Amino acid sequence: MSAQRPEAMPAHLATPPQDTLRLITCGSVDDGKSTLIGRLLHDSHNLFEDQLSALQADSRAHGTQGDRLDLALLVDGLQAEREQGITIDVAYRFFATEKRKFIVADCPGHEQYTRNMATGASTAQLAVLLVDARKGLLTQTCRHARIVSLMGVKRVVLAVNKLDLLDYGQSVFAGIESQFRDFAAELGFREIVAIPLSALEGDNVTQSSRHMPWYEGPTLLEHLETVPVDAEATRPFRMPVQWVNRASSDFRGYAGRIAAGEVRPGDPVRVLPSGVTTRVSRIVTLDGDLPVAHAGQAVTLTLEDERDIIRGDVLAAGQDPCGVADQFEAQLIWFHENPLLPGRPYDVLVHTRAAIARVMQLKWRLDVNNGAHLAAKTLGMNEIATVTLSLDRPVAFEPYAACPAMGAFILVDRVTRETVGAGMLTHALRRASNLHWQALSVDQSARAAQKSQKPRCIWLTGLSGAGKSTIANLLEQRLHASGRHTYVLDGDNVRHGLNRDLGFTEADRVENVRRMAEVAALMVDAGLIVIVSAISPYRSERTFARGRLGEGQFVEVFVDTPLEVCAARDPKGLYAKAKRGEIKNFTGIDSAYEAPETPEVVLEPGSATPEACVEKLLAWLALTD
Ligand code: ADX
Repeated sequence: MSAQRPEAMPAHLATPPQDTLRLITCGSVDDGKSTLIGRLLHDSHNLFEDQLSALQADSRAHGTQGDRLDLALLVDGLQAEREQGITIDVAYRFFATEKRKFIVADCPGHEQYTRNMATGASTAQLAVLLVDARKGLLTQTCRHARIVSLMGVKRVVLAVNKLDLLDYGQSVFAGIESQFRDFAAELGFREIVAIPLSALEGDNVTQSSRHMPWYEGPTLLEHLETVPVDAEATRPFRMPVQWVNRASSDFRGYAGRIAAGEVRPGDPVRVLPSGVTTRVSRIVTLDGDLPVAHAGQAVTLTLEDERDIIRGDVLAAGQDPCGVADQFEAQLIWFHENPLLPGRPYDVLVHTRAAIARVMQLKWRLDVNNGAHLAAKTLGMNEIATVTLSLDRPVAFEPYAACPAMGAFILVDRVTRETVGAGMLTHALRRASNLHWQALSVDQSARAAQKSQKPRCIWLTGLSGAGKSTIANLLEQRLHASGRHTYVLDGDNVRHGLNRDLGFTEADRVENVRRMAEVAALMVDAGLIVIVSAISPYRSERTFARGRLGEGQFVEVFVDTPLEVCAARDPKGLYAKAKRGEIKNFTGIDSAYEAPETPEVVLEPGSATPEACVEKLLAWLALTD
């Protein structure tokens, strides 16, 4: 049976079935994954007439199955795109039976696609792990199991395929099943169902196999149709606010998707992080007000009191609110070819709350193949680690394992705006809730007034040998002579003490500059005029430094000496060494320098004397004093 498009939809596609199961298929094409998905689509009558005739023609032309339909061709378009070098994140396929709708996330299985599999698994309720019975349980399947477990998938089907090639032998199947159960014991799955099948012949996919009388369990489709869909409905109510709807002067609604639980008008709710309580007055939707709304629904709530609620706040059950913290332990999956740099500020989005986050500590990297914990200083693409994360503001959250919608986050590069990582909050760090900012009675303005000066940080950035230290030294002399209270933080000097544990890798420079920014911020708070002189090659960290200081207190000065001039001067002989390959990661030679885009002041010691540069800088400072 097949359908014509679009007039005559099969009846079970036209009437919406009761619920939807989201699943992910893990395996490689060689395991028969395309054939399995193709067979599910074909045998559950989810193909349209034109797709079927195209498949018949393709099967005759390019198929590997003689006169029969080559079901793998249905989904192998994806494979072809991949071979052309087009990266497909995750392909989603939809099909339905009378009992249910299905959304299948189909992801590539190789290790270099770990991030794609993690993305697909993040919304899946069940994973089908495909094993080629002839090959047995391979490292690949163990890796897939680990990734889906990490992403919170609780139900797994071990689909042992290609049994037709092994005379449908029970012992091979039983061996693979018991080996997998032993391996998966530590992964915390709620349910593992092993099904022997042949996707090619159709055994136990949608129809019970005549060839395996020894198997009494369900077919794959029967299982998928009946497996419970885990609902978040029984958990306490949580709704992150996506936006505040001020449709008119007398209407203020809070729109979002309910992450867990249910809500009714009159329910007490607590607004987090602030903690204030109020009650729900209405549940507004485009189709009119609702008496109740459940997890997964997108609604707009109005509240009894007008509260100062913004995007990223969470409305939570009044009696059972969720936690609030700004430091976490988390699992992080790195998505980008540029490595993770601990200490670097990234934009983070935890449900709907935007903040700035830094990875404070990379506790260990996970070997996805065997579960080992490895030491690591950075993370490369597709790598997974347990980290501690520090945010610049508190966020209401739930551990991902308890409520994925409240504990998932993404990291975004602050310069390129690309998503570079995604992760799951495991728990809050105790110290975050026990440490408070100590308010002191003598504050920055009192200290500044005593010194009769405007405290600031004059940040000199530029290549090695550009003349930063010379300018810093001259500038301090001039300021000191005019009675100012100053301090110079020089890269070379700080590296002898505070930063003596750091070298010149990208990760170490990020940390070097972060520490200098923190120290400079403390000194400015003490009322000083701080002159920082460091290559500080990355925009991201200079932006961080700017953010650590108050409005107008960060003066970015680009000491713009061309590389050729620096290399010719070479005051420390370092360029010569770098060119001979004796120093690695030398800025301008084999390590990047990102010039400032909008510095407050540009100095050009290549064409002006250091004294003239300092005059220019002093003039600028006097103007803004
Ligand atoms: S930063 O990049 O982390 O800001 P910083 O300013 O602290 O660098 O230190 C730079 C100084 O370290 C240079 O002036 C030079 O004397 C020395 N140095 C040693 N190795 C390198 C290197 N690989 N790249 C740049 N500078 C280096």
